Amino acid sequence: MLRAENLKKAYRRHAVTVPVLNGLNLDVRAGEFLSVVGASGSGKSTLLHLLGTLDAPDAGTVHLDGRRIDNLPARDRDALRNRTFGYIFQFYHLLPELNAFDNVLMPAYIAHSTLGWWKSRGQWRARAEALLKRVGLGHRLTHRPRELSGGELQRAAVARALLTNPRVLLADEPTGNLDAETGGEIVRLLREINREEGVTIVMVTHNLEIVAATDRVVRMAGGLLADEHPKPAPHFQLMAV
Ligand SMILES: Nc1ncnc2c1ncn2[C@@H]1O[C@H](COP(=O)(O)OP(=O)(O)OP(=O)(O)O)[C@@H](O)[C@H]1O
Ligand SMILES: [Mg+2]
Repeated sequence: MLRAENLKKAYRRHAVTVPVLNGLNLDVRAGEFLSVVGASGSGKSTLLHLLGTLDAPDAGTVHLDGRRIDNLPARDRDALRNRTFGYIFQFYHLLPELNAFDNVLMPAYIAHSTLGWWKSRGQWRARAEALLKRVGLGHRLTHRPRELSGGELQRAAVARALLTNPRVLLADEPTGNLDAETGGEIVRLLREINREEGVTIVMVTHNLEIVAATDRVVRMAGGLLADEHPKPAPHFQLMAV
């Protein structure tokens, strides 16, 4: 469904080029809950940004259902970001001046012209409220972010990511800032949403307990997936032992 081919990405800092992705290939299957693990700095966030068109690769391609998406004009890319992908981050990125309900509605405000918003706002409001209830925040609609706990903030961020009914949720360490129990609850919630709505999930995590709750795990190392590395020659294996 989502296919990355030969992805290359390097960051230039001053005169130094830091290679991050070195020709990585990844196939994300429709409906799966995939974990991406790897050492800090191995390029997990970079990969997620390229999959979700938040950044462009230096080389290689990303296809969604056979359609190339890494080189779209800004307008088409904005539409994809707004409707096809939902994003969840470690630090929630909720707007502090808006309550939970308005934060969840934000993607709909962004997607519509003023007139379009006026016509469809009743439906969006109903969906925002239903989603907040679904994630267990029905009693927190008018709370602002500073009045919510970490777990509640991430639940609100999950509801926001689901508002436009995305086909793919991209989650970058969604439990990275939460204690083990609260993190476990967030992953259980994602698992249920994956099963109920059939939404495909790609989740970066450091937590191996959390990986166990997902369908498949890929590990990144050296700018590739671990299983993409050529097998070392036999004498090298001996030396490594
Ligand atoms: N915008 C940027 N400019 C320069 N270098 C960057 C930029 N973003 C990432 N890097 C570098 O690219 C490498 C990969 O970063 P990335 O954030 O993808 O790693 P990560 O696997 O998500 O790490 P972590 O587990 O710590 O979040 C790191 O060495 C980082 O310093
Ligand atoms: Mg990261």
